[in-house]
Amino acid sequence: MIYDFAATAPADRYKLLAGCVVPRPIALVSTTDGKGALNAAPYSFFNVMSHEPALLVLGIDQRRTDVSKDTVANIRATNDFVVNLVDTGIAEAMNVCAIDFDAGVDELREAGLTPAASTQVRAPRIAEAPVAMECRLMDELRYRNGRSIVVGEILAFHVRDGIVDERFHVDTLALDLVGRLAGGGYCRIAEPFSIPRLSPADWAAGKRARISPFRG
Ligand SMILES: Cc1cc2nc3c(=O)[nH]c(=O)nc-3n(C[C@H](O)[C@H](O)[C@H](O)COP(=O)(O)O)c2cc1C
Repeated sequence: MIYDFAATAPADRYKLLAGCVVPRPIALVSTTDGKGALNAAPYSFFNVMSHEPALLVLGIDQRRTDVSKDTVANIRATNDFVVNLVDTGIAEAMNVCAIDFDAGVDELREAGLTPAASTQVRAPRIAEAPVAMECRLMDELRYRNGRSIVVGEILAFHVRDGIVDERFHVDTLALDLVGRLAGGGYCRIAEPFSIPRLSPADWAAGKRARISPFRG
């Protein structure tokens, strides 16, 4: 089956992309409006793109024609935001933050989440999140239908104690992050495995890498 995207309705493209590009990490983005009101909403058109500079991206729709979502309006107003990662412990609270509340409603309070002061940006991080990345707006790319790609530079990285060792190795299973599938579908990491990397010399020598027990 092949879909010519020029002839595929946007809603169907969304179903193909959101259903096949899985699992996606979830950014629970916390912002302020610059006057003190807090906002939080989940975004799964999200990923990290670079470590030097440290960059991440968010793909943000319009709420409706010519009306921005609060997240991008706040990022434009303040030039900063925090990306909090979502574990199973805050998955249901994350879903509360996705409710289409009016601007000015504090989703963190509605969801029972706790704002904590950031160190380098005005937006708060979420205390319950296992990871929080303080970001400065680097670029905003604007496309048709009000679509916006926000590029953030990560200035500070918070991680719950006990997850990262002194050699910066991360205990992936202890993080217990949630991935987004299609629609209301989510997943946990249940059966991780490793495939060792090969050098050109390994390959030339006939060495082959096989699936092996997970080494974080
Ligand atoms: C798990 C999840 C992922 C989402 N990902 C996106 C996304 O990538 N882009 C987007 O525009 N909306 C996404 N949404 C919808 C927004 O979270 C929703 O429109 C929210 O009300 C926006 O809030 P805001 O106006 O406070 O920014 C997602 C919702 C959920 C539940």
